[in-house]
Amino acid sequence: MSTMNIRDIMKMAPVIPVLIIDKLEHAVPLAQALCAGGLKVLEVTMRTPVALAAVEAMRKAVPDAIVGVGTLTRPADFTDAAQAGAQFGVSPGLTPELAAAAHTVSFPLLPGIMTPTELIAARLQGFTALKLFPAMQAGGIGMLKALASPFSDVVFCPTGGITRETAPDFLALSNVLCVGGSWVAPAKLLDKGDWQGITALAQEACSLRR
Ligand code: 3PG
Repeated sequence: MSTMNIRDIMKMAPVIPVLIIDKLEHAVPLAQALCAGGLKVLEVTMRTPVALAAVEAMRKAVPDAIVGVGTLTRPADFTDAAQAGAQFGVSPGLTPELAAAAHTVSFPLLPGIMTPTELIAARLQGFTALKLFPAMQAGGIGMLKALASPFSDVVFCPTGGITRETAPDFLALSNVLCVGGSWVAPAKLLDKGDWQGITALAQEACSLRR
């Protein structure tokens, strides 16, 4: 598949699952379970030793999924993610070094910001689709409403502390294309191999946009 635009990726589903994968054998059934429930855009965080192998496995075995790599915090992470087959990247923040690294890879980046100054810096680097992170601590709904008027060209994927109960209020905002969250792939369901349970959570997440 050719490179997708980050806004198009953000519009594919209301929720981007934030995945922390400890066991490589969980990667493929987890991606299949989420896709079966309608969540095809997945963020595999680079927080575990098997994360990149998980991305490679998902890309091979689950062609329906759009697999991104999250928690990109060092320039080398971008090269590693590209080699693993990442179709998009997510970073919790943005620095000039990370922005430069992002421009060397072919996948699009969803960079994190928390303040107006960080938003302006990201926009100067060419990024207008941003992750508000950590969303609740950054001011949540009120912050996103306040950013809408001065930064009408910017859209968000708020992430961090959002739940199935609070997601609909975020998704109702005009400048929110989707939200990120880990609640659709909780560790206790992964540990049990409860893929049906994860599909059910994904189906529910797909219906959260009012
Ligand atoms: C993360 O990077 O861990 C995301 O912010 C997920 O946050 P959540 O666990 O609060 O959904």
